[in-house]
Amino acid sequence: MLHTIATATEKDSVIKFKKDVLDGLQSSPKELQPKYFYDDLGTELFREIMKLPEYYLTDCELDIFRHKTQELSKLITQDNDRFDLIELGAGDGFKSRHLLDYLVHNNSNFTYIPIDISKSALTYLTESLNAQLPRLNIQGFQGDYMEMLPKACKGTNRRKVVLFLGANIGNMEVSQAGEFCRKVQSILYPKDRLLIGFDLKKDPKKVLAAYNDQSGITSKFNLNLLERINRELGANFLMDQFEHYPVYDPITGACRSYLVSLKQQQVYIGESQVNFQKNEVIQMEISQKYDLNGIRDLAATTGFKTLGMIMDSNEWFVDAIWEKMG
Ligand code: AVI
Repeated sequence: MLHTIATATEKDSVIKFKKDVLDGLQSSPKELQPKYFYDDLGTELFREIMKLPEYYLTDCELDIFRHKTQELSKLITQDNDRFDLIELGAGDGFKSRHLLDYLVHNNSNFTYIPIDISKSALTYLTESLNAQLPRLNIQGFQGDYMEMLPKACKGTNRRKVVLFLGANIGNMEVSQAGEFCRKVQSILYPKDRLLIGFDLKKDPKKVLAAYNDQSGITSKFNLNLLERINRELGANFLMDQFEHYPVYDPITGACRSYLVSLKQQQVYIGESQVNFQKNEVIQMEISQKYDLNGIRDLAATTGFKTLGMIMDSNEWFVDAIWEKMG
């Protein structure tokens, strides 16, 4: 079954996109919101990023879901009770399906509730899971995951386990990550659990290379947002006048991507003019790297108890399992 709510009309979304772009480019320093990376082309480019030899994150988390499935299962199940497994931004579920497979084959009593903004992604996920695991109960929710989470939780009084994979939490500043965890905590009940994927601090060269690949796909991914603004908001960014520039600070763990203006230039977004100095930057995205103490602190300060931390074989990535404190 697929639950949907009336979403904003296309016109409302364009108005909001334009407002966010202009607000960001008129602030100092200039910035654009990474959520806008993911139009059709951006989603395709991100799929290519996940296959890059330099981009280790996806393989690491897949390694955990493939090879540490039993440990994951132990940390999310409890006395064989019935529970709802809710996945925020499920996509095609290529990592979680290893866990789903394990749970179904071990007769766990649960319903899988994937939430995703994309209806086509949810339809594909549901159909392919029906074929792979006919005994699995699935109830998809289409929409923004923070809007849909309370709705998905309301339906039943079963214990909830929420999955937030892919180091998506890294695309939030640390303070925003705290707000996000607190918000999820306020929606859950005591004993409900949250499983979050975090990318860990490691050799700084390894981190930086993941965001500065040889083949230039990450550069295209960043520049695609300017092209999207051209396409959808009638702007006139020149792609060869901006350059992708990632930096990694191994002390704070913040990996940040910028686009640098290669000359002094004016850009029109519809009627609005935006001025760039030579070498002025647009801040595009943070990909925050954590250490284990930072993750434990994040849990403790947002009302969760850490139940376990499961790492991949390289110890580059961790899936942390937390329980809401009563
Ligand atoms: C989706 N997110 C976790 C990716 C990351 O690693 O921050 C997005 C990304 N940006 C550039 N490469 C990958």
